[in-house]
Amino acid sequence: MITIPYLTALTTYFSYGLLFAFGQFRDFFRKIFDRWHASNLQGYAPICLGLEDFYIRRLYLRIQDCFGRPISSAPDAWFDVVERYSNDNNKTLKRTTKITRCLNLGSYNYLGFAAADEYCTPHVIESLHKFSPSTCSSRVDGGTTTVHTELEECVANFVGKPAAVVFGMGYVTNSAILPIFIGKGGLIISDSLNHNSIVNGARGSGATVRVFQHNTPSHLEKVLREQIAEGQPRTHRPWKKIIVIVEGIYSMEGELCKLPEIVALCKKYKAYVYLDEAHSIGAVGKTGRGVCELLGVDTADVDIMMGTFTKSFGSCGGYIAGSKEVIQYLKYSCPAHLYATSISPPAAQQIISSIQVILGEDGSSRGAQKLARIRENSNFFRSELQKMGFEVLGDNDSPVMPIMLYNPAKIPAFSRECLKQNVAVVTVAFPATPLLLARARICISASHTKEDLVKALEVISRVGDLVGIKYFPAEPNKQHQEQSMMKLE
Ligand SMILES: Cc1ncc(COP(=O)(O)O)c(C=O)c1O
Ligand SMILES: *[C@@H]1O[C@H](CO)[C@@H](O)[C@H](O)[C@H]1NC(C)=O
Repeated sequence: MITIPYLTALTTYFSYGLLFAFGQFRDFFRKIFDRWHASNLQGYAPICLGLEDFYIRRLYLRIQDCFGRPISSAPDAWFDVVERYSNDNNKTLKRTTKITRCLNLGSYNYLGFAAADEYCTPHVIESLHKFSPSTCSSRVDGGTTTVHTELEECVANFVGKPAAVVFGMGYVTNSAILPIFIGKGGLIISDSLNHNSIVNGARGSGATVRVFQHNTPSHLEKVLREQIAEGQPRTHRPWKKIIVIVEGIYSMEGELCKLPEIVALCKKYKAYVYLDEAHSIGAVGKTGRGVCELLGVDTADVDIMMGTFTKSFGSCGGYIAGSKEVIQYLKYSCPAHLYATSISPPAAQQIISSIQVILGEDGSSRGAQKLARIRENSNFFRSELQKMGFEVLGDNDSPVMPIMLYNPAKIPAFSRECLKQNVAVVTVAFPATPLLLARARICISASHTKEDLVKALEVISRVGDLVGIKYFPAEPNKQHQEQSMMKLE
């Protein structure tokens, strides 16, 4: 739950209202003008028109310099941001050859494996020479190399499940797997803030989808009870199966899943648990084994464990881990396994090598140090931001920490001012978040040094004053504040 100052809510709605009104006004004239300048093919319906198009043109394009900034180096603690210029008010941006060296507070490089690593990189290069960048084949044809089988064993062992299957893309892992597990007559109960890949997988499955309030076990129980009592639509037959889908760490909120409570409920009502650990695997837990380890949940109680290699392991792809039968079933039936080219061998090697470092199998203690570091860094950064008066979402130990901005005008202001001072931040707004809840999302890495973090805090504090986003000043008049807050889910 987020509490937002009433005045901020009001000005935010007003800003969007104004942008919308002027946009519509300008579109009205554009339409008249377009009669003579029709760019559409004669007789065809416009292919890219609609509300999304309006949003892109009238809101997003005005601040597009804050998004998709080209990078010309590895996403390490510091990286090179390519400067761009525009001759048409930022409608189109052109690259220059100039770069700015910036502190990177945006990449999901939680353990620092995304940059050159003394152990991983030589192994990856070796596998590149041995196997080439691509297998040019799907898993069931010629696309299963020894790296792939080693990777699956390695992942299953790491996450604590009997077996695993890997895919070339994390997004596809959710969106192609869910339709295999469940279909018509089944029920998916999904957290309201689950990632788009889960949303699309659930939609594509044809199962009935119900949503429960974000990370609220009591509401999940209510939905479970109601749905079990109701049964399938119209026929009221019992559901064929029920799957509850949650994430380990919510990537836009930085919150940890209330997994113990949710697992207990699922056991009580005989629903399967599907856990997406994209942001938590490798990043949290004493040995990096994710939220189950952190929150003391037995992995045997989580039926399907999903995760991606694009964050902590500095690679690409995703996995599903589960019982031997489940994984075998997936390998026989999942189109992303049967018809898609297998994960790139060097990418697979990167995952194996980084897991070896995490487990200390490289013969050093670097993995343990990285895990200690990400935790210290995250907790230090979060508590300092809170002391400064920012509204920071999320839980301790989570390396993701959103700083609330709210007003649309503050999105580009915050991003541009930070960049001017060599700090690169990611800002997120609608449709990735609700309209009112725009934010800057800080991702902390084990590769950040104390000096990096102190510099970042100085810059963010200065910019925070400038942009006016310290919503909780140091000595707040608590009573007064609580009264003028609006509560939002
Ligand atoms: C929770 C969650 N699941 C899945 C994905 C998709 O993974 P990938 O980016 O590796 O395709 C993401 C990506 O950010 C995510 O946050
Ligand atoms: C275009 O982007 C730059 C930053 O890249 C910004 O300073 C400038 O204000 C933007 N211009 C407009 C018209 O939005």
